[in-house]
Amino acid sequence: MADLARERDIMTIPKVELHVHLNGSISEATASILARRHGADPESALRLVDGRYPGHYPDFQGFLDTYLAANEFVRTPEDLELVAAEFARGQAAQNVVYSEAIFTAMIYVRNGMEPRAMWAALRRGLAAAGPGTGMGIVVDTIRDFGPKEAAATLRLVETADAPIVGLGLTGIEGTVPTASFIPFRAEARRLGLGFEVHAGEMGPPSSIVEAFDVLDADRIGHGVAAIRDPELLARLVRERVVLDVCPSSNVGISEFPTLEAHQMAAFWRAGVNMTISSDDPPFFRTTLTDELRHVVRVAGLDAQDLGELQRRAARHAFAPTGVKDGILGEIERWAAG
Ligand code: ADE
Ligand code: ZN
Repeated sequence: MADLARERDIMTIPKVELHVHLNGSISEATASILARRHGADPESALRLVDGRYPGHYPDFQGFLDTYLAANEFVRTPEDLELVAAEFARGQAAQNVVYSEAIFTAMIYVRNGMEPRAMWAALRRGLAAAGPGTGMGIVVDTIRDFGPKEAAATLRLVETADAPIVGLGLTGIEGTVPTASFIPFRAEARRLGLGFEVHAGEMGPPSSIVEAFDVLDADRIGHGVAAIRDPELLARLVRERVVLDVCPSSNVGISEFPTLEAHQMAAFWRAGVNMTISSDDPPFFRTTLTDELRHVVRVAGLDAQDLGELQRRAARHAFAPTGVKDGILGEIERWAAG
């Protein structure tokens, strides 16, 4: 067996992250600045424990409460620009050359942000790390809020001036029938956008099946419930379905007791077309670099495997072909060097 990928490989490889929530990338420091800016006491308003987000939650709802508490203080375009710039700089610091940032625009519209100013602030913030740190936006709608919210999200997207590459469905599985989102999915196709569905995260294997058979998803967010259904797992492998796997997030919402008990190694060995992401990094006390360290250790990946993971992420991004070819070229130069 080849040696495990080394720390140097993990640090230097040009990275692609397909599943990271911009609303889930607000550090404790930035959230505290915003809380104070809006007259609140950070420690209590943000549910901090010794100055940090808990990182580990009894269930998805526990995470969501903390995430929403931070997002409540992103109220003005200046607030959003700060959040987006911090995100872009954090990606640049890890040599993430391209990210697909999931963005729940409706949270900020509900907080009172005017849409045009919101998109302009997002563009300015995401540009903070310069052109070497590519960004695509996946605008999501939260399942639990139903099809009306999806329609409102779509109206925002249609008039947005932003590098939107996809639409997404997030939130709590099973709360609203999947079929309610067929029109939202159809609009993604009409607009030439990719479509990502969070499924099999806290929901059952059938939720993943619905993401395909009802919504014809291009990528599945998480999909870890597939481990409980061997037939479904075989289908995912056969159809080369892309799963954005986010190990620390799954452990953080108590779906798996530890990273070692997470099924990432079984997925890898079975030949699942998985990529690795950080989901909501500060809320799970992680980064993409940490997630790559975890998968190298737990699934026993060598440097070639690591290259393969990043090539896959580049190939399955919703970015234009020219952008993807550029990223693949960077990864080839890394592999040759
Ligand atoms: N919104 C933010 N993070 C999420 C996650 N991990 N699953 C579903 N919805 C989310
Ligand atoms: Zn997610």
